[in-house]
Amino acid sequence: MTESRTIYVTQPDLPPLEEFLPSLQDIWNNRTLTNGGPYHVKLEQALCGYLGVEHLSLFSNGTLALVTALQALRITGEVITTPYSFVATAHSLLWNGIKPVFVDIDPVTLNLDPAQIEAAITPQTTAILPVHVYGQPCDVKAIQRIADLYNLRVIYDGAHAFGVRMNDESQSVVRHGDATMLSFHATKVFNTFEGGALVCQDAKTKRRIDHLKNFGFVDETTVVAPGINGKMSEFNAALGLLQLQRVDAALARRREIATRYRDALADVRGLRVLFSRDGAETNYGYFPILIEPDYPMDRDALYWRLRESGVNGRRYFYPLISNFPMYRGLPSAAPSKLPVATDAAARVLCLPIYPSLTEPEQARVIDLLRGA
Ligand SMILES: Cc1ncc(COP(=O)(O)O)c(C=O)c1O
Repeated sequence: MTESRTIYVTQPDLPPLEEFLPSLQDIWNNRTLTNGGPYHVKLEQALCGYLGVEHLSLFSNGTLALVTALQALRITGEVITTPYSFVATAHSLLWNGIKPVFVDIDPVTLNLDPAQIEAAITPQTTAILPVHVYGQPCDVKAIQRIADLYNLRVIYDGAHAFGVRMNDESQSVVRHGDATMLSFHATKVFNTFEGGALVCQDAKTKRRIDHLKNFGFVDETTVVAPGINGKMSEFNAALGLLQLQRVDAALARRREIATRYRDALADVRGLRVLFSRDGAETNYGYFPILIEPDYPMDRDALYWRLRESGVNGRRYFYPLISNFPMYRGLPSAAPSKLPVATDAAARVLCLPIYPSLTEPEQARVIDLLRGA
């Protein structure tokens, strides 16, 4: 490992190629490439087992899973969501002709602040779309209480939440809400190159989701809905089965790296680590820090300083979704209404974290942060 190698914010974890080749050979032999083939069936079952859920549908990516969740649950009108996320969260609403209503975030978790949801509910509100940002669970109980009170659906964007367990129930966070989307994109803790899934609560909803992700086909000649093509291919599903065997080791590596960051940065004035030690069992898919005013430079200066030294952090999430042109005209997008999210987007920096990050590489990152 040379000193000059660029360290990226993440690097996809992959099995050795030779472990994947037999599955490829098998796919080549049997010529079933997609449409719910044997690897697709096996991966759905294996993920249900791993995540402790009963109903899960695979998708070609997380965004289509989210778009489909909104269709499957017949969400219309207005949906309350967070501006502090990846842009696909709100885009899934626009693709369904739904108006996003942005609500500010909690300053500790950076997730949608349940205390501010009720004030944003109108007669048009049909659902809440929170995000488990960086894999930190939302306040699922408070959100469900509000949803029950106002008869709203809850759909979680759990793109970051693979393998995250709630600290008080040691169960997967994806069990909450009416549906949860997962992303298996290359940058995620569990990746299938591209891919995603939708977890839902009952067999009837899963059936509808499965029809919707296959153009609305129920059988050869029957189409029941204007569905889309969201199917995961056999290639991605076969890779997923191998990745699932590696994911616990990958999560353990991430935890080690996170602990090292936390210990090394604890006494650095002006750097605030977001995860608390006694929080939920998160997956450390990201290692976000907030650059406070008493750090010697601001976030952007630090970001560029690191880049000049070959360390690529990521300003994630920046800009806020509500600042993008297709959203900024909405009344709820005004920065004055979203002070916590606006502040976090200006201060946040995600540090490199991935299973193959070596100790000397991490030491380089830490030295740069401590030496600023
Ligand atoms: C919070 C969030 N939502 C949605 C997505 C979209 O998922 P995908 O890339 O699998 O479509 C991502 C990541 O890419 C994400 O980080």
